Amino acid sequence: MSDVKKLYIKTYGCQMNVYDSERMAEVMGGSGYVTTDSPDDADMILLNTCHIREKAAEKVYSELGRFKPLKAAKPDLKIGVAGCVAQAEGEEIMARQPLVDLVVGPQSYHRLPQLEAKARAGGKALDTDFPEEDKFEKLKDRPKAQRGPTAFLTVQEGCDKFCAFCVVPYTRGAEVSRPVDRILAEARDLVERGVREITLLGQNVNAYHGAGPDGDWTLAQLIWALDKVDGLERIRFTTSHPNDMSDDLIAAHGECSKLMPYLHLPVQSGSNKILKRMNRSHTAESYLKLIERIREARPDILMSGDFIVGFPEETEADFQDTMELIRAVNYGQAFSFKYSTRPGTPAAERAQVDDAEASDRLTRLQALITQQQRAVQDSMVGREVQVLFEKPGRLDGQMVGKSEYLHAVHVADAQAARGDIARVRIVESGPNSLAGVLA
Ligand code: SAH
Ligand code: SF4
Ligand code: F3S
Repeated sequence: MSDVKKLYIKTYGCQMNVYDSERMAEVMGGSGYVTTDSPDDADMILLNTCHIREKAAEKVYSELGRFKPLKAAKPDLKIGVAGCVAQAEGEEIMARQPLVDLVVGPQSYHRLPQLEAKARAGGKALDTDFPEEDKFEKLKDRPKAQRGPTAFLTVQEGCDKFCAFCVVPYTRGAEVSRPVDRILAEARDLVERGVREITLLGQNVNAYHGAGPDGDWTLAQLIWALDKVDGLERIRFTTSHPNDMSDDLIAAHGECSKLMPYLHLPVQSGSNKILKRMNRSHTAESYLKLIERIREARPDILMSGDFIVGFPEETEADFQDTMELIRAVNYGQAFSFKYSTRPGTPAAERAQVDDAEASDRLTRLQALITQQQRAVQDSMVGREVQVLFEKPGRLDGQMVGKSEYLHAVHVADAQAARGDIARVRIVESGPNSLAGVLA
């Protein structure tokens, strides 16, 4: 038997978890692990979990149960839980599911090799600390393997906003920004390995204030520095809070050609009463005004957002305010959720909205969003866009990629390689993607 061990990671939740899973795979490379696509031949299974809604958290326990026969067949198999459920319910996971050998919270991933060694030696390992040391510095030992054309890069983590419904400030901790030089070094490294588009990640990415050469930098300053990285063609960032949309960031949308015309700016509700109870510290009017200013800077920008319906005490009239805001914005894309009670958050203690009523509101809201999304997508027909090709499509010679606006576009006979950017004329708008021809 070789001493190469196989690591299977299953990732739930947001893009930051995707980024973190890559880092965990890399750091475990140092302990002799290579990744595998199947749990069946794995020596270690890691679930990188999400705690944002009840359903997301529940998945962990049902998924773990499914690994029981694998562990019975291979007693050496180590099973670990990472991510936001690990952070929130670490002890409980250990107590409830004896299959679990290891629990690691998001701020302790650089300690994964030691935790794995402890588990291999027969112990149970749990680490949900918020350590002082910079985990990113310790995780940066990356192999020089080639990468696909798009990549995530975490620049900010955690949140100090404490929206009344949200677990993120508890699972990810306080807001921390990475220093500018480390981010630029990571970006250059990604570009050398084939990356052409970088999405900067943070739970509150536009609150970025990392240490730069001359004091703290804003996200806009960071974007302008990335703009000068040769070979990097596209910059995106997510997720932003309306209150942190600074003037220089709005201006960058009009002036920085590498910054893509797509902005995810969650509002959650259109009712000022509900926004106040959510502790969002913006109003429907200030949000609309903000979007007006962003569109002045970049008229073709595609707006995206997040909505919660059925937040405690939301009435039909409050919900109608949300519908009105959606009509006023005209979203190209939006994510919407029924409010989910999260233990330990302030809203969990309040009078809950009837579940059937909340479901009904969600259905109505999603119908409106779908209609807007589809209309924005249809309006692309006849236009020319730039497509960054990411992978071959289902048909022979077909390539699939993303436009500036993050629409999926497929092109027949594309004569393009992964990572190429081409001018494409959109000829058709389907349910989930656009069809185009080379222009
Ligand atoms: N950092 C991001 C949001 C992270 S969570 C931001 O601040 O915008 C992603 C989305 O999940 C949120 O925007 C919100 O719409 C939704 N969400 C968060 N907590 C929720 C809860 N308790 N119930 C339902 N949806 C929730
Ligand atoms: Fe959660 Fe976002 Fe609010 Fe922070 S700003 S508490 S991450 S919804
Ligand atoms: Fe979920 Fe944690 Fe991301 S709760 S959305 S994985 S920050």
